[in-house]
Amino acid sequence: MKIASNIKDLKLYLNKERESKKQIGLVPTMGALHAGHISLVRQCVRENDVCVVSIFVNPTQFNDKNDLSTYPRTPEQDYALLEAAGCTYVFAPGEKEMYPEPDTRIFNFGRVAEVMEGKYRPGHFNGVGQIVSKLFDIVQPSKAYFGEKDFQQIAVIRSMVKLLNMKVKIVACPIVREKDGLALSSRNTRLTPELRQKAPLIAHVLQESTTFAQKHSVEETIDFVIDTINKESEMEIEYYEIVDSATLEAVSDWKGSNDPVGCITVYCGKVRLIDNIHYKLS
Ligand code: PAJ
Repeated sequence: MKIASNIKDLKLYLNKERESKKQIGLVPTMGALHAGHISLVRQCVRENDVCVVSIFVNPTQFNDKNDLSTYPRTPEQDYALLEAAGCTYVFAPGEKEMYPEPDTRIFNFGRVAEVMEGKYRPGHFNGVGQIVSKLFDIVQPSKAYFGEKDFQQIAVIRSMVKLLNMKVKIVACPIVREKDGLALSSRNTRLTPELRQKAPLIAHVLQESTTFAQKHSVEETIDFVIDTINKESEMEIEYYEIVDSATLEAVSDWKGSNDPVGCITVYCGKVRLIDNIHYKLS
């Protein structure tokens, strides 16, 4: 495994690989890697000749500067995990390398970037678009891997690929969870022991709601989720919406979507956790 911290070195390596007709896959990350990230890396290694993993805590996607400064950074541990997973190249640039000039681009990704996270984290997806478009341009991957944990992020990236006529294929990978159901996240380490015990409630309620949904309306199902979680002290829902997986339009009737997905954000104490679930109506 080689580690490149500048664009020039990485391009030299990758041009050689392309000359030998190697197919390149990319997994963009912000580091502090856990088994969720590593599942993406393993899939990328399986499906490509060369797997590039980028590690860059992208300042332009943080609308909360405190969140940026406290974001965990564990490079040595990350490199060890990536090496064991079969990664070929790590791209770990500094801020000046990715943003030699401030990025003033403003994208219009349409409604997929305006609802839910887009509403509560203004500017977030624009920043994601800025960094991911730069990474696609540098790496020129055939395929890029993203986790369904950030469900809306995938919809936004797909919209960007269409908007900018990019050639890359976006691969969505399933959510990896702890044994107790909690979706893996680098933010989980910020939970106090008490809140860590409570947090799996989010995944449990979402799971239960898929049974509840068989005999109840969309609106009743949304209320069921919100009421159950908000009853718990120190847990507060920011939003729970059931949307169509492709358009992210709100679903008002189960028959109105082939693939309804419930997307949730919960403040667990001060820690903001997200999760989602697909509903299959029988
Ligand atoms: P980051 O939060 O580091 O996540 C990197 C990738 O890992 C994302 O595609 C995310 O969805 C995936 N991931 C995180 N937790 C997961 C889990 N429990 N199961 C499956 N996949 C999981 O998302 C970002 O970074 C950034 O926005 C980025 C795309 C790198 C742009 O800066």
